[in-house]
Amino acid sequence: MRWSIGVVWAAALMSIPTEAADSSTYFDAETGFTFAQFNGLFQIGKGILYRVAVPSPVPANASYDVVFQIVAPIAVGWTGLAWGGGMVRSPLTVTWQNGQTVTIGSRYATGHSMPSVYPNAVYTKFKTGTKVNSTHWQVTAKCSGCSTFIGSTNSQVTLPPKGVNRLAFAESNSKPATPSSSTSTFNVHDVTNSFTADFASAGNTEFAALVAKNGEATN
Ligand code: HEM
Repeated sequence: MRWSIGVVWAAALMSIPTEAADSSTYFDAETGFTFAQFNGLFQIGKGILYRVAVPSPVPANASYDVVFQIVAPIAVGWTGLAWGGGMVRSPLTVTWQNGQTVTIGSRYATGHSMPSVYPNAVYTKFKTGTKVNSTHWQVTAKCSGCSTFIGSTNSQVTLPPKGVNRLAFAESNSKPATPSSSTSTFNVHDVTNSFTADFASAGNTEFAALVAKNGEATN
């Protein structure tokens, strides 16, 4: 039975985080959500803020909605999140400025080429928290279908709502062909990187009430 001691030790070790997440906790007073925030650098000294909020509690093994917020310098052509931590077999949230508002596109790729429109992730863009000024554009939205998906091993993945999850971002300096359309084509990214987000730090007990409070954007 010597091996069982090893198993116990391995289990004990696995429950101890070996590295801290790349995210920090951010409370957004405007929308009321608490997010895990990551500053993704796309040029020296220039970053895009990626924020993720989750409901708390979430029943075990259940799929759940997430809320994300992206704050991008005005020069960014498009930027997006890959919820599975890489481009392939992962819901891709793609966002870009469209005049005084922001368009959200849903995509999924089975290879490293132009991703297809992805109907399994559905977005509700919020009225509060989506805006454009002379320096930045910002979008806040709920995604149903970003946290559960068919992943890289071709089986269903649900991101643990209390886990440290590896996500990725992509940034392009060029704008999509048709900014008003969520199904627009766009050029390949100039920068990609992955990061870890601590979903446990992004739990919101008032998630549903905050979703309702922030309202659906009409444009
Ligand atoms: C025109 C559309 C796109 C094309 C042609 C494209 C192409 C590629 C290629 C060729 C690579 C491999 C780069 C390398 O390592 O040499 C790559 C990586 C990557 N792409 Fe895309 N991409 C597109 C859109 C997107 C979108 C919309 C996202 C996310 C929202 C994304 C996220 C990533 C990420 C995170 C990586 C690095 C990790 C990985 O290889 O999976 N891509 N892409």
